[in-house]
Amino acid sequence: MPAERLVGAQDKPEDVSLDLTLRPKNLTEYIGQDKVKKNLGIALHAAKKREQVLEHVLLHGAPGLGKTTLAHIIGHELGVNVRITSGPALERAGDLAAILTNLHDGDVLFIDEVHRLHRTIEEVLYPAMEEYRLDIVIGKGPSARTVRLDLPKFTLVAATTRVSLLSSPLRDRFGMVYRLEYYGPEDIEHIIQRSADLLGVILEPAAAKAISARARRTPRIANRLLKRVRDYAEVHADGNINEATAIEAMKLMDIDELGLDDVDRRILETIIEKFNGGPVGLSSVAASIGEEVDSLEEVYEPYLLQVGFLARTPRGRLVTKAAYLHLGLPVPNEGQASLV
Ligand code: ADE
Repeated sequence: MPAERLVGAQDKPEDVSLDLTLRPKNLTEYIGQDKVKKNLGIALHAAKKREQVLEHVLLHGAPGLGKTTLAHIIGHELGVNVRITSGPALERAGDLAAILTNLHDGDVLFIDEVHRLHRTIEEVLYPAMEEYRLDIVIGKGPSARTVRLDLPKFTLVAATTRVSLLSSPLRDRFGMVYRLEYYGPEDIEHIIQRSADLLGVILEPAAAKAISARARRTPRIANRLLKRVRDYAEVHADGNINEATAIEAMKLMDIDELGLDDVDRRILETIIEKFNGGPVGLSSVAASIGEEVDSLEEVYEPYLLQVGFLARTPRGRLVTKAAYLHLGLPVPNEGQASLV
């Protein structure tokens, strides 16, 4: 997966410091996801009123939509610590045990990419989630025995981009399951306007619209684009971001009016030129452009499907008429059976 992809929704190290400044600290500051905000707000309010620990929360949705941000907000709203880890970071059951035994009553444990948790660790998590209990096996063979440890009452907030990969025993142990949706363009404009204010830069509404149109309905991408556009405005203009500056900056980054970058276009052009527009298997496309099948499927394809430039058929991926038009290529004979 290329590390330098501006419109990729995957987290990048540079986003961390940006996130710390721009990340909303409470539900009131959080823009969009109204349904999740309302339901979560009620649950938080009720838990605080009853002085009970919040039930476990599962957040799922595409990368960059604010799952980690919400986990921090939950901790902040409850006035507790948030301990952060991820599925792949927990290699042994002992890793999870060490974290669990260090929590305090009411704390939030955030496990990102929970679908990548090993099954053996998942089994440690079940009694911990249900009864705040840790069963540790000591020794091996006939002398092995189980020691039971009581844990502090905690809230697990787990996040995943692939909810279908979660085992049902794990999924069933969450009291709340929220799906984060892609944001509407106005919400994205609102988010970058807020970010611009926090960064102390003037962003004209038309420029916010131009950035929003290219941000793939994803706050993380929108904030990243804003940061790049701000750099450009500082070097090539007076530091303020107007529409023309924003559009020039994003053109220079090879990001088109719909937020497609050169890899997205290469995928579409490859299917058109080498596979006659499809249908073609994803592995053939991946081999042709030198990308991993997984990154094609998880990183590039979702947005191309969402904007209707790719279609999934039982025989493989198909480039749509809308994609030909967007790329400025002649649409093949409309009678062609395969064209959607
Ligand atoms: N920054 C990133 N995501 C945000 C959101 N949903 N609301 C406000 N600011 C954000």
